[in-house]
Amino acid sequence: MVTRISATTPPNLERKPKAPSCAMVVFGASGDLSRRKLIPAMHQLFAGGSLSEHFAIVGVARRQTSSEQFRRDMHQAVAERRGDENFDTATWERFDDSLEYVPGEFADPATYVRLSETLERLDHERGLQGNRLFYLATPPTEFECILNRLSEAGMLRPPHHSPWTRVIIEKPFGRDLESARHLNAMLATVLDESQIFRIDHYLGKETVQNILVLRFANAIFEPIWNRRYVQYVEICAAEEIGVGSRGHFYEQTGILRDIVQNHMLEVLALTAMEPPITATADDIRTEKLKVLNALRDLTADQIEQDVVLGQYRGYRQEPNVSPASTTPTYAALRVFVDNWRWQGVPFYLHAGKKLPSRVTEVSLHLQPVPLRLFGSRDECRSVESNVLTMRIQPNEGISLRFESKIPGHEMAIGTVAMDMDYVETFGGEPAEAYERLLLDAMRGDATLFSRRDAVESSWTWITPIIQHFERNPPRDFPNYDPGTWGPSRARQLIERDR
Ligand code: BG6
Repeated sequence: MVTRISATTPPNLERKPKAPSCAMVVFGASGDLSRRKLIPAMHQLFAGGSLSEHFAIVGVARRQTSSEQFRRDMHQAVAERRGDENFDTATWERFDDSLEYVPGEFADPATYVRLSETLERLDHERGLQGNRLFYLATPPTEFECILNRLSEAGMLRPPHHSPWTRVIIEKPFGRDLESARHLNAMLATVLDESQIFRIDHYLGKETVQNILVLRFANAIFEPIWNRRYVQYVEICAAEEIGVGSRGHFYEQTGILRDIVQNHMLEVLALTAMEPPITATADDIRTEKLKVLNALRDLTADQIEQDVVLGQYRGYRQEPNVSPASTTPTYAALRVFVDNWRWQGVPFYLHAGKKLPSRVTEVSLHLQPVPLRLFGSRDECRSVESNVLTMRIQPNEGISLRFESKIPGHEMAIGTVAMDMDYVETFGGEPAEAYERLLLDAMRGDATLFSRRDAVESSWTWITPIIQHFERNPPRDFPNYDPGTWGPSRARQLIERDR
């Protein structure tokens, strides 16, 4: 239990202004991401007063439907997301008005003519001042075509220009180093880096941002945050769900591209980085880049030893999945960061679908005490090492595990924990990651978005691993039962250095 000590609004809390007037254009608006995340996040921002009153959302997709039907669909999506008791019809009715829909093929120039006309009309009707945030929530294969058409239609204005134009690109950003480089090079022909927002929604999570605060706003942790005190680090992203209806997407992605290349490496970079000079976007992103550049490359033999892939039983029977699929749905990796701070400390990454529970967390396991001072009597034998855990989700919080004397006449030792729980401490669930990220993109703050060099660096490290398994697909797939913690070989990998 942690008591919150600061006042309700700490004096040093910088109140950021509302988002500026703008139109958000969502390509792929009839898709899952739009229904489940983007529109509900915009609705929440609106309800919380974070949007300007001069805003509009324009959905673009192939589906032939009207703006009225789009509003009805989004109404249903947001109502489902909020649940009956949290859904406020009056707020929806004010929000509803801001939604428009433009049907059309992404490759067809006529789509962009209609889009441009709609945006100009909305500029007049709603006072949007011409500012545009384009969100590419489509499969990656469409990115290049959409950007070229937007450019040809004169809709991508130069940087540092008023009104502004920004583009958010959904992950996965490419499928290997070559395609990521190609996409980056293509983007650079139509936009400036300052206009490109490569999204990784993990960075929008309160608890992921709190890794920086825990490390750099406290004096107590930083001195032990290195190879002298840390024995190993574990980063886990376990999900209970399987691939569900996303079989087609997942077959082309797999866990290494879907979770490891982006979410896990972002969390690893925040955990391992040096203190930045300032908290500005570029200083933070430069420090993260240095960690990615320091990831130790793995030879083919090391890949076989230090990377374990898995596929859950039943994956091959999911819709749109090949009956002979070799796509991994689980990965465990032993990774080293070759720099002064972390030399020799293994970072274990494990992520998977259809595991027993949803847990995303980072744990620093500290070195054992140097001397078993309390003798070798039974009750003292099991002195455990300290573990600092940052629980990213669910039960968001931080806990420190340490040893304590068990009350009584004997010298008995037991493991206890100090625990900080977000909901208990601050009240209310942490906001959805997309809310923060959309707001930051509208405000032009790129701190929580991936920079070109970092994306290429993470692909540089992971592409040989992906290619190794594409050339030598695991022969034991499927190799774990749903509801278990992955293949047994993965457990051995993690236990090897303990
Ligand atoms: C997405 C992946 O990026 O992250 C999904 O494509 C995964 O496969 C999801 O389920 C997990 O996100 P969260 O926020 O639920 O942990």
